[in-house]
Amino acid sequence: MCGIVGYIGNREAYPIILNGLKRLEYRGYDSAGIALYDGEKMHLSKTKGKVADLEERVKSEIPTKGSLGIGHTRWATHGVPNDINSHPHVSNSGELVIIHNGIIENYATLKKELINRGYTFESDTDTEVLVNLIEEIQKQENVKLGKAVQIALNQVVGAYAIALFDVKKPDEIVVAKLGSPLAIGIGEDEFFIASDASPFIEFTNNAIYLEDEEMAIIRKGRDIKIRKIKGDTLVDPYIQELKMNLEQIEKGGYDHFMLKEIYEQPAVIKDTYRGRLLADKGIVRLGGLENYIEKFTNADRIIIVACGTSWHAGLVAEYIFEEWARIPVEVEYASEFRYRNPIITSKDVVIAISQSGETADTLAAIKLAKQKGAFVYGICNVVGSTISRETHSGTYTHAGPEIGVASTKAFTTQITVLTLIALKLAKEKGTISQSDFMLHLRELELIPSKVEEALKSNDKIEEIAEVFKDVSNFLYLGRGYNFPVALEGALKLKEISYIHAEGYPAAEMKHGPIALIDEHMPVVVIAINSNHYEKVVSNIQEIKSRKGIIIAVVTEGDKDVKEMADYYMEVPNTPEALTPLLTTISLQLLSYHIAVMLNRNVDQPRNLAKSVTVE
Ligand code: AGP
Ligand code: GLU
Repeated sequence: MCGIVGYIGNREAYPIILNGLKRLEYRGYDSAGIALYDGEKMHLSKTKGKVADLEERVKSEIPTKGSLGIGHTRWATHGVPNDINSHPHVSNSGELVIIHNGIIENYATLKKELINRGYTFESDTDTEVLVNLIEEIQKQENVKLGKAVQIALNQVVGAYAIALFDVKKPDEIVVAKLGSPLAIGIGEDEFFIASDASPFIEFTNNAIYLEDEEMAIIRKGRDIKIRKIKGDTLVDPYIQELKMNLEQIEKGGYDHFMLKEIYEQPAVIKDTYRGRLLADKGIVRLGGLENYIEKFTNADRIIIVACGTSWHAGLVAEYIFEEWARIPVEVEYASEFRYRNPIITSKDVVIAISQSGETADTLAAIKLAKQKGAFVYGICNVVGSTISRETHSGTYTHAGPEIGVASTKAFTTQITVLTLIALKLAKEKGTISQSDFMLHLRELELIPSKVEEALKSNDKIEEIAEVFKDVSNFLYLGRGYNFPVALEGALKLKEISYIHAEGYPAAEMKHGPIALIDEHMPVVVIAINSNHYEKVVSNIQEIKSRKGIIIAVVTEGDKDVKEMADYYMEVPNTPEALTPLLTTISLQLLSYHIAVMLNRNVDQPRNLAKSVTVE
């Protein structure tokens, strides 16, 4: 994710773009840049850091005149956050300048071809490849910018919201969209471009939201032409009159960032496996792992260190790795691991999982493991974060900024990466059959649409939340792959509603916790189609015989548990190893609605911080 802003019209572009970037910083904030055309020349300034750092740098670096410009606040995916990798990016000739939100999956192949044709590259980004591809096509085909963009995008695989202009033709901006959002504000003889309407809502509430595989040529003081990228048909612009205020726009129309991020999960799970899960070819491609496969396949064990929700993702990974790759896994709280003088050898692989990449306990665990000779692999959501730089290699989740303190999309994208790693290692070791390998690749590809399906139960889950919003305690039970989900569901409820909740392996109830059961105790039981189904049914019966209240998470089409449960939440069917990606959705929504009904500060719950950078 990132924020893109553009302007073409009669006003000074700079203040519009700068303020627009500040409003979009929630979408990405590791670096920022701006390009302005002053009527004769293009001036560009960009820097690692926040938009405020860009504002300072512009003061000493470039004139801010001109009524044409584009700006970008970055959430890096390819190339660490630094000045060079910041956007905008300029083509070799210096004539084309682009900003981009998204991922060009086949950038490496395109880059190789362009280098063979004499192009040079300053940055490590996929975006710089795109702008030079457009330039090469413009030259080779001798076409205008719009046509060159269209031809180029038909060669690109990936996701994009782009805006670019040609200094040779400064009366137009070309934009295009696939997979990432792009809004066009329609003013009086002026046009605004942005990732959402927040940068231009104060100037106009008339907006066009481009659809996927649409592009537009926006001409100053003239018109806007929208066409399909494939097939070239013209599209009648549909101008909406927006009724949202600034805050609602930033939250994408949702009441809280947490709810927005719950609903972003289909898209960000897809972004996370994009270019990595090649089901048609039966390949898992993970850049950070390719050179270290032996470390894992020859490892005596994998030790996973993490905190909180990331630790729960590690527990899910324990089941996946051991079932498929047959590598022993231990999952450790980083805060315990770092102080207990653990026995580590060079035959150990440590995986550190962290959304923020800044969690002090996890960072300390990494340093200890490295001192003791282990190979350390990181799974982070922030490119260039401390943990990502401290580990020997790693794989980024592409969840985009997670603003809500309660982690949701980070959890599901972490599990997505861990599943890809486990599949790749199992294939390498020959411990998974080709049919199981291909089945799970294809089923993982279907997860985004199945998450969409699970999200459709939102209203029903809200009704269940209404029944239980005033209780004092909850139990969460699960077995196998869904035992960690039970823990995660309990954590979600605790941290945003302040209701006490405990997660347990369902079979553990009879070793003490069942004493807690009475008619006042709601028990969330994850009872989806699995090898444990019959056992979980027995656990439900044990609870009901003691008057406990059952809220079950069931597979669509289930009959038995639905009959027994007092309430149920349905998720689509999927192979057991992938069920945590779906069952967690129900529990995220349940905790969210209870917290809202209790008027909690859902996005910033009391006592909590988004990134725990202290011990
Ligand atoms: C999860 O909802 C919490 N916000 C918290 O447990 C979090 O997962 C933990 O602090 C670890 O953070 P990290 O993933 O950024 O390292
Ligand atoms: N993939 C591009 C980069 O890494 C854009 C990332 C974004 O959407 O901010 O620079």
